[in-house]
Amino acid sequence: MASPGLATYFDTSATTPPCEAVLRAMAEVQASGWANPSSLHGPGLAAAEHLERSRQSLAWLLGCDADELVVTSGGTESIHLALLGAAAPLQPGRLLISAVEHPATQAAASRLAARGWQVQTIPVDRQGLLDLNALDDLLAPPTRLVSLIWGQNEVGSLQPIEAVGSRCRAAGVLLHVDAVQVLGHRPVCFRDLPVDLLSGAAHKLQGPRGVGLLLVRAGVPLQGQLGGGGQEGGRRAGTEPVALLAGFAKALELSRQLPSAAGLRDPLLEQLLAIPGLRLTGPPPGPQRLPHHISLLVSRPEGQPLSGRWLVGAMARQGLAISSGSACSSSGSAASPVLLAMGCPEDEASSGVRISLGPWHTAEDCRVLATALRRNLDLASMGPVGPTR
Ligand SMILES: Cc1ncc(COP(=O)(O)O)c(C=O)c1O
Repeated sequence: MASPGLATYFDTSATTPPCEAVLRAMAEVQASGWANPSSLHGPGLAAAEHLERSRQSLAWLLGCDADELVVTSGGTESIHLALLGAAAPLQPGRLLISAVEHPATQAAASRLAARGWQVQTIPVDRQGLLDLNALDDLLAPPTRLVSLIWGQNEVGSLQPIEAVGSRCRAAGVLLHVDAVQVLGHRPVCFRDLPVDLLSGAAHKLQGPRGVGLLLVRAGVPLQGQLGGGGQEGGRRAGTEPVALLAGFAKALELSRQLPSAAGLRDPLLEQLLAIPGLRLTGPPPGPQRLPHHISLLVSRPEGQPLSGRWLVGAMARQGLAISSGSACSSSGSAASPVLLAMGCPEDEASSGVRISLGPWHTAEDCRVLATALRRNLDLASMGPVGPTR
């Protein structure tokens, strides 16, 4: 169950601690499967067997064939492999991404732009949901590839992947989906999705850091981006992390047995929205929102925006971990490009905070969090704290 200290950790969209069962599964596999799975001797064959078992288990849980699964080091690598690897066999054309992609996708898109691809951004509405009409207009030649974040890390929006995928199919355009925030929070059956490539990472669902996956639909050509050995069907060179993959498979298996985090999230959100100065960003609770995710704009009760980072710092000093925007952008500019893309005014775009729940949380943990947030906002309303930048 939960380790001490986790009751106050509300930043699971950044990362999660591996749970006990995952650590045990990894220790067992590490003990007997430590060798190089490509080696042809006994220890190598034992490692290869573990690797295959984890691959089969992940494939079964994700509704894909085992050879559609490429093991990577995490979400960022999967996204780069998807975009650069799928684009490599194609003539340069147009790549469409949404206006609320993770920086990893933007970085991979920039690499393609440097190789002669035209990168175009599809706008989103005020809840961070894709403008399907704009997509329709752009799904004409020279568009060859679309990459879309399924669950948005900062504002929790879940994009209409089925609607996007069927449009891409009709247009003969490849679709990559960044499912890093989605795996472990809703069932994914690759076979049933109109998606060609799908990225995930273990560390968001109480698996280990350092391992991810890219699902590649059978028949979709993908050029490996690393030189070296012929692992992963030639699509990803490098000795496979056998124990980490076992941890990933165990974490995904366990996530399927958990109740939806929405059961705790929804009453917490209700408490938070009763606090003057807190407003929800992204879609309301329901099918268009990640179930463990709350994102808010913070202001003084009379409306003057407060800095999200100030609130995160104030909460941290009281031992509570929440986040401002995404972990990945927290060292850059304070104004959130995601909030700006959603039409948030400039003076509010640095006022975002994110609260993300884990399966260990209780109603009492949520009450403690809500009380601390209320206290900090009360203090802000009294004095000159919480600058907007
Ligand atoms: C939506 C999304 N995509 C990609 C990534 C990058 O994944 P990783 O940190 O495993 O490289 C993250 C991580 O925060 C994410 O939230």
